[in-house]
Amino acid sequence: MEFDGLALDLFFCSEILKLSSLHYGLWADPGAEPLTLDNLRAAQRRYTEALFRLIPGDTRSALDVGCGLGDVARGLVARGIRVTAISPDKNHGRYVEGAGENVRFVQSRYQNFSSKERFDLVLMSESQNYFQPGVCFEQTSRFLRPGGHLLVAGMFRKSDGKPFPDHVNVLEEFIGQGASMGFEVVENQDITGNVLPTLTLVHGAMRSYIDPSVDLLQRYAQTSAPVKARVLGLVFRRQLEELRGIYRYLLAKTDPDAFAEHGTYRMLLMRRGLSATRAA
Ligand SMILES: C[S@@+](CC[C@H](N)C(=O)[O-])C[C@H]1O[C@@H](n2cnc3c(N)ncnc32)[C@H](O)[C@@H]1O
Repeated sequence: MEFDGLALDLFFCSEILKLSSLHYGLWADPGAEPLTLDNLRAAQRRYTEALFRLIPGDTRSALDVGCGLGDVARGLVARGIRVTAISPDKNHGRYVEGAGENVRFVQSRYQNFSSKERFDLVLMSESQNYFQPGVCFEQTSRFLRPGGHLLVAGMFRKSDGKPFPDHVNVLEEFIGQGASMGFEVVENQDITGNVLPTLTLVHGAMRSYIDPSVDLLQRYAQTSAPVKARVLGLVFRRQLEELRGIYRYLLAKTDPDAFAEHGTYRMLLMRRGLSATRAA
């Protein structure tokens, strides 16, 4: 959900929780590891390593779709891979641009991205839900060389799952659409259980810190200046309602129980067939 061009959930992770990645990470021993920010950071490093293990050894160039804070792009560059990193968020450029001459940043949505380059790898780490699967495979057919790989890691909706905020892709439909366009699944790892602690942690932090802080502010305003508080409440009624809506959305998006019931988190490696036709 965007507010004045800012994705609030991503802002919460980078500026409030001070994380250096925007993905959910991979917990080694869910249920046993204490839910702390340090363990979340370790889980994020583990996730990035798990992504790298899936990248075929002959990869020389990569398109990082939705690069976020650039840790994956920087890791790819450190492995000798030339990277084009894209994101619609202009702030994300500063995270990748210092990583040397082997990386360039393009501020763009994937829907609008264009390039003459054909990459060995197209990577979507938690960015595939920002566009429809048709866009994903049509665009990827333009930029991925035949025989190259598409690596998608992120949340999907189960086929019988209810819509979950922002999760536009249903796993089976996504895989089916890819198959119809010449993308064959090479790896399909289910790491749902290993990402759930992150949702529990973030959801719990919102409940534990934001709810009581808002409550405290309200009580303070209502007791110290009841008339002003009522007037302000009326004047800013629409804005306050919007803020409540944003908060409800963020709570729903991080609800671990709803996700466990309706969602699944996959690391999917797909290979573009040699005979697949190129999108015009
Ligand atoms: C959840 S973050 C993931 C960032 C990073 N890939 C990671 O794993 O930490 C999603 C990223 O996708 C970007 N994004 C949002 N809409 C997009 C779109 N239409 N096309 C490409 N990227 C998009 C966001 O700006 C952000 O950089």
